[in-house]
Amino acid sequence: MDTFVIDGGRRLEGSIRVFGAKNAALPLMAAALLTDQPLVFEDVPDLADIRNMTRLLAELGCPPADAPPGSRRVTLQTVDPSQNHARYDIVKTMRASICALGPTLASRGEARVAMPGGCLIGDRPVDLHLRGLRALGAEITLENGDIVARAPGGRLKGARIFLGGNFGSTVLGTANVLSAATLASGTTVIESAACEPEIVDLARLLTSMGAKIRGAGSPRITVEGVEQLGGATHTVMPDRIEAGTLICAAAITNSVLTIENCPIDSLMAVTDRLRVSGVHVETLSEDGPDRATCRVSSERVLKPIEVTTQPFPGFPTDLQAQLLALLCLSDGNSVVTEKIFPERFMHVPELARMGARMHREGATVVVSGVRRLRGAPVMASDLRASASLVLAGLAAEGTTVVQRVYHLDRGYEQLETRLQALGASIRRVDEADL
Ligand code: EPU
Repeated sequence: MDTFVIDGGRRLEGSIRVFGAKNAALPLMAAALLTDQPLVFEDVPDLADIRNMTRLLAELGCPPADAPPGSRRVTLQTVDPSQNHARYDIVKTMRASICALGPTLASRGEARVAMPGGCLIGDRPVDLHLRGLRALGAEITLENGDIVARAPGGRLKGARIFLGGNFGSTVLGTANVLSAATLASGTTVIESAACEPEIVDLARLLTSMGAKIRGAGSPRITVEGVEQLGGATHTVMPDRIEAGTLICAAAITNSVLTIENCPIDSLMAVTDRLRVSGVHVETLSEDGPDRATCRVSSERVLKPIEVTTQPFPGFPTDLQAQLLALLCLSDGNSVVTEKIFPERFMHVPELARMGARMHREGATVVVSGVRRLRGAPVMASDLRASASLVLAGLAAEGTTVVQRVYHLDRGYEQLETRLQALGASIRRVDEADL
């Protein structure tokens, strides 16, 4: 099993480009099930989850075309619409397989997708996805652990749907219902839709395929169903969570870094909170819609802050763990509350092994800043928790060994080589060789 060995305490220096967003790419790729024309995606990150999604789509009769190595291009085209079973073997490796449900059902009249299980960040139910699809007329049953959905007469029907739940809206649930509604008959209005930029990116793709969508990015999305959708070429939006992680990497090492292809508009809640703490993100140039070249710098001593994670445009849960690592080194008591996944604190006991002082009370953690963290062997548990341990390792005195980095590899492409290029001492080692 791979581990990272990090010798901390080095300043980072230079420029790094943010790659396309995994969480945008997964529902975008699933939209290839909605048409028999090719979809061409640019700037797709090379990650395990993307490879799993490609494998799943191939099983659903929508294989990838060959692409030149390193091109970051993925072309998908449905050639066999008779396949509609997303098997548990794949779904268990990647919860986002649920993205296949709405598009398969809408285009083929029937879908069978293995029910995803829970994961380390919580239970992660899919009731809202099913509620939305049922409102579009789908008949849904659970058979042998599979969600089996059928559209009576082969086509879904537009409807007014409320998609809010106890923890706000649902990002992938909105993606599923939005994608399905594009081919439904009549008009669909999704109320309490997720406003995340990844939903806006999906709506952009669907619109270029011929869908009629208004309001994406707001809590009310209106879709006029069309008979069929066509092909499109689409560049995946830059990864706001990767960008936020890199901003934290600069701040925790007290470095000045240039971040290219940074989706700065999607990071408002993050840059706003960080500014209060003493981390400054300055736009050097605007290179396209929500793509900028930014410089990150920070004050020597960071101030403590209060942060609550919320659905977009609030502070993202996917940056909570990384922020917590940063606040371990601030001067005073910070309070971090997790409102999306209240159990998402697997990194807390690991950071404590490095000398962090934290007190957790339910979904809130009080962080009492310390002057220094000390390297230690720590265990990655989920994707973002792993990133927070890497950040802590970059700042800590001595050597940190982060075990089980396969979690990290699901969402960060070649993080260690990219950090090395900025001057970090971080290397990938097989655990057996330590
Ligand atoms: N929820 C329900 N019922 C549902 C769906 C969700 O109660 O049917 C609850 C969840 O348990 C959670 C909240 O609603 O408390 C929000 O969950 P959401 O459905 O929005 O999460 P998701 O769409 O499954 C995506 C990202 C996550 C990210 C969340 C929240 C992808 C592939 N995943 O998950 O990303 O944390 O939105 O922003 O896009 C990550 O990248 O590390 C990651 C976990």
